[in-house]
Amino acid sequence: MPLDRFGRNIQYLRVSLTDKCNLRCVYCMPEDIVFRPNAELMQDDELVLLLRLFAELGFSKFRLTGGEPTIRANIVEIVRELRQMEGVRQIAMTTNGVLLGHLAQPLKEAGLDRVNISIDTLDPTKFRRITRWGKLDDVWNGILASEEAGLTPLKLNAVVVRGFNDDDVPSLAELTINRPWQFRFIEMMPFADVADFAQQQIVTDVEIRQIIEDALGPMELVDNGRLDGEARLYRLPGAQGTIGLISSVTEPFCASCNRARLTADGVLRLCLLKDKEVDLLTPLRQGATLEDLKQVILDGIWQKPWGHELGSNVIPLTRVMSQIGG
Ligand code: 5AD
Ligand code: SF4
Repeated sequence: MPLDRFGRNIQYLRVSLTDKCNLRCVYCMPEDIVFRPNAELMQDDELVLLLRLFAELGFSKFRLTGGEPTIRANIVEIVRELRQMEGVRQIAMTTNGVLLGHLAQPLKEAGLDRVNISIDTLDPTKFRRITRWGKLDDVWNGILASEEAGLTPLKLNAVVVRGFNDDDVPSLAELTINRPWQFRFIEMMPFADVADFAQQQIVTDVEIRQIIEDALGPMELVDNGRLDGEARLYRLPGAQGTIGLISSVTEPFCASCNRARLTADGVLRLCLLKDKEVDLLTPLRQGATLEDLKQVILDGIWQKPWGHELGSNVIPLTRVMSQIGG
């Protein structure tokens, strides 16, 4: 099992399959973002080879992210390959849902277990304002298709942005009353180009809960507040589903972090919010042996930073979210 020097057992890999996206969410990327040329990104054979190394090292949980993972050309094939690797226990995907209307079923058949879908508002006009390019109907169809395909338990995510969707929080939270979904509200995190925006418009965990309770009544804490992944769970009175709060900024969960990230350009990023990285693709292309690469991964993991320092104003500068993979 890969361990870091703080004794954390790192066995959850979040894999960015592409830096590109079919949307341009305001908190994620500037509208005129310039993407990396595809040749600089992991090709299918390189990706599969690196994934196999991680699985052999003891990584058991994989999450496919982006950019937008569903726009990667051979996404269904990639899921199928990953599913067949020994030691792979769980495969999930974080997606904007736009393409799930037709991809949910083939992805499930290829071995995907579940999806997290981002949906920041139920108002089509606002949805377009936040995503710049998106159509709410596509996402809603994607959500229903995922449920039907059995990509469950379904988790939905909203990043709360002051002045954009803070007043949509109650209607989103309300979705959990009659559906067995987990709706997760995420504190906006500052990254590179969008850092100033994020710092000015953040709505904190405490405030989000207040908005929900003012509108819908008191929530009960689920599981005594034990974290479910990165979320603390609550339940509205009589609700089928749950509400998750992801307070990465005001209440970091770094102590229980078990994750590492592989970026689309083949770099092991050790903390979402710290710029420490170890390049894997360059040595792979220069002919490093598989054993060498495994050692590079293990050494990198050992050096994983303790946690982020957003509180002391240390902001990740080298990449925006879409280049890290959420
Ligand atoms: N802060 C918090 N979450 C973000 N995401 C994208 N950018 C940010 C940010 N600045 C989220 C998306 C999606 C996942 C890929 O990451 O909403 O749920
Ligand atoms: Fe695309 Fe997700 Fe970023 Fe929105 S948050 S631009 S959907 S990668």
